Parts: sequence; structure tokens; C-alpha cells
Amino acid sequence: MKNLKKITAFALSLAVLCLGFGLLVRTPKTTTAYAADTGYETIDPDAPEVLFTSEITSESLLRIYKALGFDAEGEVAVKMSTGEPPNSNYLRPELIKDLIQEVDGTIVECNTAYGGRRSSTAMHRQVIEDHGFLDVAKAVDIMDENGDITIPVPTPATGARSTITTNRVGAHLTNYDSLISLAHFKGHAMAGYGGAIKNMSIGIGSVAGKCLIHTGGRSSTSPWGGNQNAFLESMGDATSSVVNQFDGKVVYINVMNRLSIDCDCDGNPSEPDMHDIGILASYDPVALDQACLDLISQADGNTRFLNRVNGQNGFHTLEHAQEIGLGSRSYRIRDIDAEPVAVTMSYDNGRLTVSGLDGEAALIRVSYSDGALAGVDISSVTNGTRNMEVNGGDKLFLWNSLMSMQPLCPSVTVPDGGPKTLVVYYSATNTTEGVAEKIAAYTGADIFEITPSEPYTDDDLDWTDNNSRVVAEHNDPDGRHVELETTDVPDWASYDTVYIGAPIWWGEFSWVIDDFVKNNDFAGKTVIPFCTSMSSGLGDSGRHVAEMASSGNWLDGKRFGTRASEKEIQEWVDSLGLN
Ligand SMILES: Cc1cc2nc3c(=O)[nH]c(=O)nc-3n(C[C@H](O)[C@H](O)[C@H](O)COP(=O)(O)O)c2cc1C
Repeated sequence: MKNLKKITAFALSLAVLCLGFGLLVRTPKTTTAYAADTGYETIDPDAPEVLFTSEITSESLLRIYKALGFDAEGEVAVKMSTGEPPNSNYLRPELIKDLIQEVDGTIVECNTAYGGRRSSTAMHRQVIEDHGFLDVAKAVDIMDENGDITIPVPTPATGARSTITTNRVGAHLTNYDSLISLAHFKGHAMAGYGGAIKNMSIGIGSVAGKCLIHTGGRSSTSPWGGNQNAFLESMGDATSSVVNQFDGKVVYINVMNRLSIDCDCDGNPSEPDMHDIGILASYDPVALDQACLDLISQADGNTRFLNRVNGQNGFHTLEHAQEIGLGSRSYRIRDIDAEPVAVTMSYDNGRLTVSGLDGEAALIRVSYSDGALAGVDISSVTNGTRNMEVNGGDKLFLWNSLMSMQPLCPSVTVPDGGPKTLVVYYSATNTTEGVAEKIAAYTGADIFEITPSEPYTDDDLDWTDNNSRVVAEHNDPDGRHVELETTDVPDWASYDTVYIGAPIWWGEFSWVIDDFVKNNDFAGKTVIPFCTSMSSGLGDSGRHVAEMASSGNWLDGKRFGTRASEKEIQEWVDSLGLN
């Protein structure tokens, strides 16, 4: 095994407060340039695979995750750093958005042990909101806000000795079935570098757990004064305890951008000397971190980064992690940028989906009438899903261009007829509208907005003002009547299924929809109420609307919060079993 143990005197490590956040570092002994313990790429087919893409975008992050073929079962935790303010290099919400939504994941974090703006739950929550994570994830869970639990470090099957035998992690960890470690790869003042192993150990440890790891098990109350190698070894041991807790249902992604020598726990990190490198992913955290360090060792401008890793004996983390059987330093690279992307086209229930295109392509729609050619439409398309009106029997072709007429995938014949769906909604402040649009996009439904003749202004909606329009209407259930622009839906009779949505006002469906419900005949239709609210549940309000209607097969309704994700909505639609 390559093992350049160049640092031996870490017992003399010195704790200093720095950066105004009480971040503890052990002063590197020297600024000498070191040789890096790198170069572990192999062609050995038994070595674990590390996937690589040089593109760092939300789409490529999702692509590399999908290429892993991970089955993210049940409640999915995505462990990442929420980033120390004001200027740290944490992974931005716009980068992680597609992945987090694809897996319907909860971002999980723990409070810090070094002070700073994320050391208490209340402050940490504010940072999470300020950094925009609530805009992309259904939830962010500070797993140790209600204390911690102790989990065992499994005895290494390799016969090696672990440095710590137990780990303390945020108590909420047991709420999750699968775990995605989503780490920003960078340098670190104490560990030398931070990647998957640090994210899984220090990142998931409670304050007591972080102290145990830092001191190699000597203290659960203070992170200071431990032996450096014991600290590095304990990170591998702690990672092993978390992997064990998830019964192996863990996958690891490292994003190599903003390659500072400083961690995301540093609010004012040093500017990177290197260019961004890409995204790497693996089922093996040791292989993944090693591959990242190997890439660093090949990059221009790596001197300070490698000095930092070596200055803290950072490669020892990987030596020990391999020794305890957490993973392998040798790995095979699979460059997913070099893999051809299959182009696919499908048409389902009013929606055309195209994927795998590199830019635009030509979509040719050929229509027939009584078996004879009736028309040809040509348009350009890009990847994505869009509503598209076609007739049963139409044929859709996807060509790379009209010049070369090269088919990119098999043509699609639109199925005949089929049931029609309508989504009807009222929305005062656009929340219900967002849900309605997502239902319509997913089901291929038409959409109809209920519009009051006199729309509600912000003042009208002020339920805290006793003189506002809503309060007056609420206080007079018998007298209230909201005139609508129209309650007539074009071609109403053709719809088999109707979703009807509104906001919750005082624990009930907003009464703005009353005239629509009373004036329309729902006979023969399946009707599904839905609502959005700040916190109230649906209660009996779905049943009350059904009673107001003269007819129709009204199903149980569904309440969504104000940040309902596409996945949550789609899963609910699927659960109805209507299509
Ligand atoms: C007049 C009024 C009354 C409300 N009453 C409740 C309520 O009882 N419970 C609740 O959880 N949210 C209540 N809300 C919040 C809305 O239900 C929630 O913000 C909803 O998502 C708004 O939907 P919209 O943007 O489509 O109008 C109320 C809002 C207004 C304006």
C-alpha cells in the first residue's frame, strides 16, 4: 500500500480560534510542498467504479446520480452542508434542485460544534432559509435538534482495529431509509480535505459525536486536544457506523467546484487556485475521495491544496478507511460524458416527453383522416415534457434536422381517444394555482381558473383586519355570495375526471368556488377535491363541497402545504389510480 506517512508530530498541534467563528485549526507544521499519495486509478475489473462528469449543473448532477442506478427507497436523506455565512462555498440550491426533487429528498444536517451561525437550531434554520434551501427541498431537517443517539461502529471484518467503537449522531437519522451523501469536495483546516468521509462522519455527528471523532473517542464534550491520526481514523470509523445504520443503502456524490483549501464551515474561505473539475459519484466513499484527490494531484494550481492535505496527514483518513474495510483506494473511472445518451420520445395522456437531445430537433406530426394523409406539422423541440394537442392515430417522428432527416428514435403513434381530465381551481395568491398546474401537466388535463368578477385585493384578503372583505364574508355564511366571471367550462360534458382545488380559508374550502360547484352538473364524472393551506388539514371540507354539488362521484380530497413538490403531487395522482 502506498503510504507516505510524512507527518508524525501532531501531538504538538495547536488550537487557535480563527475567522471570527471560533473555527479550530491545528497549525500546519510547514509550508513545504509534499508528494501526494495519489494515483490509485486502475483497470482492475474488481475495483469499485467511480463515475465522472466534467459538467457541473443541476442536470448533470441528476444524470450522474441516475447513472449510479441507486434505488432510493422510502424516506430519503440527502446529507450536505448548509454552509457557514457569509461567503462559504456550499453547494447552491440551484445546483442540487433537480436531484433533491427527483428523490423527493429531505436535506439533513446537524448543528456545528465550533460556534458560528449554525451552532444552534434557531440560527441554523435562519441560515438554511437565507441560503435558499427551503425553495428547492420539501424540508431541511436538523437531525440533532431533539438530541442524539449512540450507534455502534461495527467491528472491522478485515481484522483491523477501529479507533472509536461508538458514534453519536442526530436522533432523526433513524427517520430515514436511504442516504445520499452530497458533499462539496474542498480542503479542510483540520482534516486536510473534506469529501464523502467527512460529510458522513463530522457532518452527521451531533455536537457530542463531533467531539468524539475529533478526539479519537477521548471526549464527548470538547473537540480540542486530540491526536491528529486518531481524529482522521475516527472519521472512517464513524462513516462505517452510519453505513451500518442504513444497511448499506447509501450512495456518495462529491462535487469538485470552488476548490478552496478551506471548508464550507469557514464563512470566509480562501479563493480557489484551481479550476472546477466536475462531479464524481460512487457506492464506495473511499474510492470516491481517493479519485477526487487523484484529480487534484493532476490539476494546475494544486500546490496549496496538496500542502493542506499533507500538512494534516489527510491521506491517512483513506489508509485507515481502507484498512477497516470501508472501501477501496483503488478504483475504476467511468466517464459518463463519453457515454452516448439515448434519445427517447413518448406521448402519454396529452403530454409529449423528449429526452437525450443535444440541443434542438425537428418534430414531425403526421395526421390522418379516414386512413388518408390529412396534414403534416413541423416544429422544433428540446428536451422536456410539454402539453401537446394531437388526435388519436397521429404519428410523431423525431429527426435531427429537416436537412438530413435522420431519425433519432422510433416514431410514436398516438393512441385513440381516451378519458379527458379537467383541473378547475381558484387561487387568491397563486399557491393553489401552482398545484393545479402541476396536476394538469402530469395528467395532461385541461385547466380552468375560477375568477371572481371582483378579484380579491391584498386588503380584501387581510384576515387579521375585522373590516376586511374576507372577514365580513366569513362572518356572514348565509349572506355571502361571490359573483364569478363564468361557471361555464367549454365542452364540460366531455370530461370524465375533474380535479377541483381552492385555498383553505378558516379551515374550509374558500367559498369562492361555491357557485361553480352549484351551477355545474357532475353526473358521470369522478371528482377529486384538493386544497392548499398554511397548516390546516382538509378536515371535512372535501365532504362539504361534495354535499354542495348535486351529483358526481366525489373522492376523498387531498391537502397540500404551500411548498408541495412535483413528486408529492405526482405520487398522489398515481395513488388515485385513475389513468
Ligand atoms: C382569508 C384567509 C384565511 C385562511 N385560513 C387558513 C386556515 O384556516 N388554515 C390554514 O392553514 N391556512 C389558512 N390560510 C392560508 C391559505 O390557506 C394558504 O396560504 C393557501 O395556500 C393560499 O392559497 P392560494 O395562494 O391559492 O390562495 C388562509 C388564508 C386567507 C387569505
